[in-house]
Amino acid sequence: MTPGKHEHGKAGASAAEHGHHAGDARLADEIRVHHASMVAELERITAALREAGPGHEATARDQVQRWYADVLVPHADEEEATTYAAAGELAEGRLLIEGMVQEHVLIKRLVGHFGRSEGATAAAYATAVLEAFESHQRKENELILPLLVHSPAVSLTEVMGGGHGHQLDGGDKAAEHGGHAHH
Ligand SMILES: [Fe+2]
Ligand SMILES: [Fe+2]
Repeated sequence: MTPGKHEHGKAGASAAEHGHHAGDARLADEIRVHHASMVAELERITAALREAGPGHEATARDQVQRWYADVLVPHADEEEATTYAAAGELAEGRLLIEGMVQEHVLIKRLVGHFGRSEGATAAAYATAVLEAFESHQRKENELILPLLVHSPAVSLTEVMGGGHGHQLDGGDKAAEHGGHAHH
């Protein structure tokens, strides 16, 4: 059986042998789903800020600011402690992860510029954050996750064990931030 193929649904002897690979592929897909939901939410609140009429701008701006602080930045920090740490240990991942950590720094700098801006300038920085994040998460989906799933030296399930509140839909912290919950 090809390691790169999805193997879930297969039972028997191969399940024990390839168990963590099958689980890893599923987990990688769940991370991709979470990235897609992050992009969709960021598109929604960024558009709301760009289109906010007079009197609604402050609320729309606060919503974007809060999402950066509660969702985007913790997601990046958690990755650096989990998936990035594991991929950075692999020879094929070392330079890729260095570059991706530098993108976290870039995205956080854009978030900082947003925080010090208002009006059309803030909306422009929010658009820059959206574009940077969209490109960034695509590289995680297409480069980092396949590297981890296909590496016999790494179990993504173990790497993610325990601390994945900001990387999966339905994680404890993700649930707190979902829907209309305020805190
Ligand atoms: Fe990232
Ligand atoms: Fe990510």
